Amino acid sequence: MNESFVLIGFMGAGKTSVGRVLSDQMGAPLLDTDQMIEDKAGMSISHLFETRGEDVFRCYETQMLEELLSSRADGPAVISTGGGLPMRAENRVFLHRLGIVVYLKAEPETVIKRLEGDTTRPLLAGNNALQKVQKLMDQRGPVYEESAHVIVSVDNKAPKEIANEILNKCNCENTEQLGKQR
Ligand code: S3P
Repeated sequence: MNESFVLIGFMGAGKTSVGRVLSDQMGAPLLDTDQMIEDKAGMSISHLFETRGEDVFRCYETQMLEELLSSRADGPAVISTGGGLPMRAENRVFLHRLGIVVYLKAEPETVIKRLEGDTTRPLLAGNNALQKVQKLMDQRGPVYEESAHVIVSVDNKAPKEIANEILNKCNCENTEQLGKQR
């Protein structure tokens, strides 16, 4: 597999945990846009939202993609992205240039179950988490679907199973076809 994988999808869909398994299996580095932003900003995502606002965070996301594109000349990588990153049209162009875009598709109930007790997602802080998830998913679902070369459903599956499914799908689906869809 010479191409990089770019994992997109909702918070709690398992992009980071699946990314870890994929990166082990491929022997390729795992690059996480949220982690890159935290390193660059010198603070947690929650603190960044709180002190500088969501718009600044979104600008960091675009900047990280630009950095990834200019630094990723050598070999494949697995890139895990923040759940809201594909919502900017310019980011979607960058994602396609970075590699095979894989949408990890989760039902709202899966997200809620996985993020129970989590305090690191500012967009889901406070009450009515399920309603918030559903509303955001309604907005984002079609964009994720449209941006993805490959869609993998993640409900009730372990990261290893999901990683294997991604590798199987991408080995089977001929890369020429993927190229045409981009
Ligand atoms: C966000 C998702 C988070 C993080 C930030 C905003 C979003 O990443 O980027 O809290 O807008 O959905 P994960 O998808 O890794 O949770």
